[in-house]
Amino acid sequence: MSKPIVIAVDGTAASGKGTLAKKLAAHFHFAHLDSGALYRLTALAVLEAKGDPNNPDDALRGAQTIDLTLAGGPSIRTDVIGRAASQVAAIPAVRAALLDFQRGFLARPPGGSPGAVMDGRDIGSVIAPDATAKLYVDARPEIRAHRRWQELQAMGIVRDEGDLLRELVARDLADKTRAVSPLIQAPGAGLLDTSDLGIDAAFAAALALVSPKVEGALKDRHRG
Ligand code: DC
Repeated sequence: MSKPIVIAVDGTAASGKGTLAKKLAAHFHFAHLDSGALYRLTALAVLEAKGDPNNPDDALRGAQTIDLTLAGGPSIRTDVIGRAASQVAAIPAVRAALLDFQRGFLARPPGGSPGAVMDGRDIGSVIAPDATAKLYVDARPEIRAHRRWQELQAMGIVRDEGDLLRELVARDLADKTRAVSPLIQAPGAGLLDTSDLGIDAAFAAALALVSPKVEGALKDRHRG
């Protein structure tokens, strides 16, 4: 059996990477995993157990007790969970505990799908350095803060946009400068700046960047 095709989508918070990853998965009929949800679920488990997200023992226990059934739900989408997710994500034991699940998903995409799209911070650099195609998604911080503000508002959470901007910049810095698996533009990743693009235009740009590699790999599979 040939190896599954993998599209790695990394990028900054609220850059649009999750939406793009989902749309790419639907387009190619691939499975999709939002790896950020694993860190958010870990954060949720830690906070519910009244633990400290910066404490390695508490954080590892959280990673070992995540409840995957909550992955698609709103409880992990709050900014409090986002901040705590960034904290647990800096702890090497947490990343190690979540590694097998992510690699397993890519090696055997659910539903017998020929490929998988995974979005996060270290997919193209650490989880799947040999990915078929890689994207690095970014946007200006002010634009991303506004998107986050809109997302939260839609969930009934009203936040000051300036505060969100400061938190987002702080989270970017933490994610980019941590010692383990920092957010980088992985070698071979195409850069996509979504600042001035609507969803349809951003998706068209993402498709233009990954399609040649993905279509080539799909053809090879059919031939092989
Ligand atoms: O993409 P997100 O906002 O759901 O991610 C939440 C946090 O999880 C993010 O600040 C950093 C961490 N994360 C990570 O370290 N590695 C990943 N592959 C995905 C997310």
